[in-house]
Amino acid sequence: MTMAETTATTKPRLNAIVDDIHEALVEIITRHRVTLDEYRAAVQWLTNAGQQHLEIPLLLDVFLASTLDDLAHETGEGTESNVEGPVYVPGAPRLERPYVLPRREDEPGERLIFSGTVHSAGGSPLAGANLDIWQANGACEYSHFQPGVPEYNLRGQLTTDDSGAFEFETVVPAPYEVPNTGATGQLLAALGRHAFRPAHIHFKLSHEDAAPLTTQIYFEGDPCLNSDVVGAAKKSLVTKLSRHEDDDRRPYAACSFDFVLPL
Ligand code: BEZ
Ligand code: FE
Repeated sequence: MTMAETTATTKPRLNAIVDDIHEALVEIITRHRVTLDEYRAAVQWLTNAGQQHLEIPLLLDVFLASTLDDLAHETGEGTESNVEGPVYVPGAPRLERPYVLPRREDEPGERLIFSGTVHSAGGSPLAGANLDIWQANGACEYSHFQPGVPEYNLRGQLTTDDSGAFEFETVVPAPYEVPNTGATGQLLAALGRHAFRPAHIHFKLSHEDAAPLTTQIYFEGDPCLNSDVVGAAKKSLVTKLSRHEDDDRRPYAACSFDFVLPL
């Protein structure tokens, strides 16, 4: 490429961002008087991260996804959004009523009945809204990412009824430890930080009369709510678990959340 061609294909936004990244790095290196040995160790660590399966998306999601998600949803209408995270798998099975997320007989985790409604920011109940749900079980396992867990375990899609209400049965997830055996875990350990996210259930909601929403619901009293390794947990997305017994005296937990989709 000639000099003239390089100039012709310059992208002002790309140049501005890369220039700012360069300037920020130079400032940090200068302020902390980073040594050549430290620089070489960082290059080696990044090289290792790049060679580990899915480690770069994990690293970036842990440190940056929450900020990007907040920026993308600044208008603030409806239920707050929350990061999709790296373990979403499209194509989860469409479930039939009564809704039960696919799970094994001995699925780790307390039985949970999750109910709620979906409205538009204009206040109308949204009948037929689609909820695409995914979560870890009570032993921190996501299907497709932990060996031995069946495909689409604790993943499914359901729709709201004529009044915009939904209810599904699942298990209470445990606080989730992000994979900690690779470069991300190595960095978190060196920083003295734990690698846990508070327990959560992921939702992608959609309806033709509203804008889609990707969010997560957390549980009151979770010990990791204030130290989410991803920094994504938000107060407005916390629900409360209550404990009950069904007619056969089987214990279960229950919670609810009313979603509002932006227009
Ligand atoms: C999660 O919600 O599962 C997640 C989000 C960001 C990084 C890792 C995991
Ligand atoms: Fe998650």
